[in-house]
Amino acid sequence: MSDHPIPPDHADPESGERRILSPGSPNPRREFLRSAALFTATAGALGGGLELLTRRPGGPGSAEAQGAAFTRPARPLGPYDTSEAVTPYAQATSYNNFYEFGTDKSDPARMAGSLKTRPWTVRIDGEVRKPMTVDIDTLQGWFPLEDRVYRMRCVEGWSMVMPWLGFPLAALIRRMEPTSKAKYVQFTALLDPKQFPGQRQPVLNWPYVEGLRLDEALHPLAFMAVGLDGRVLPGQNGAPLRLAVPWKYGFKSIKSVVRITLTEKQPQTTWALAAPQEYGFYANVNPAVPHPRWSQATERRIGELGRRKTLPFNGYAEQVAGLYRGMDLRRFF
Ligand code: MTE
Repeated sequence: MSDHPIPPDHADPESGERRILSPGSPNPRREFLRSAALFTATAGALGGGLELLTRRPGGPGSAEAQGAAFTRPARPLGPYDTSEAVTPYAQATSYNNFYEFGTDKSDPARMAGSLKTRPWTVRIDGEVRKPMTVDIDTLQGWFPLEDRVYRMRCVEGWSMVMPWLGFPLAALIRRMEPTSKAKYVQFTALLDPKQFPGQRQPVLNWPYVEGLRLDEALHPLAFMAVGLDGRVLPGQNGAPLRLAVPWKYGFKSIKSVVRITLTEKQPQTTWALAAPQEYGFYANVNPAVPHPRWSQATERRIGELGRRKTLPFNGYAEQVAGLYRGMDLRRFF
């Protein structure tokens, strides 16, 4: 990444070096308790999210159990879930990429206390019949919340298994009523250098922006997360609203979204702007196409020793390969 000072892999992807701090993040349970009212308000609409209200101290995923690996969510797995061992909450919330807080993996957990996630509004605009600015609590109240246990593969060569709570992006897009011109979806993260110390440095073009083709966005796997492991999403993981597209490299899954815009033209995306020779718009997980500076053939699952093979489309090929039929995936990387 010659023209860019800080690659997303400022850490060594091959070394296996992890710098996991004790979770110095704001106490997620306390934040959940503060926010419980908002979930209670939508409880009628909650599906798997009801778990949020019924977790007991000491139960799976409780603060007490933090750090202990657990292998199954406390519910039957759904058609979109992986049955692989879930990454322990303490690790999923202390080893993060969120450059608005800094470029070190430990910065987001340390700094996320400065992020104020209420009040929070999301602007919905562009090629939609109903442009609007909506409060996050209203927005998430529109949809029954679902659990989704997804693999997440970072372009740097590490991966996690994340138990998200949220709603399908397709449900939101349908509600936005796209016009016939809508072909893409652009997502914009919060721009606020007061809250995001990383934005005081020109490390990336701020705000962080991402995008999907409309048919990708409408795929049932494309998900908007508002919770993690049955709790309100911690700041370091992208509170209060983040994208989760499990068949693409993690940088597509933009955090702390404030704007969703339907567009006619392919939108700009942060990492493709920063280093177009290294990061494309599509960013589908593809072990056959190496990053210019490292192989993508294997990955290190956080919490495991050694490396495992990376799967095409991160193991979701059966569901999503059809979206790219006829496309040269080396050219559209
Ligand atoms: N979203 C924003 N706004 N800023 C970022 O720096 N980093 C991306 C993505 N979303 C990033 C972001 C990258 S590179 C990855 S791998 C994932 O978030 C990491 O998500 P996690 O920390 O929840 O595991």
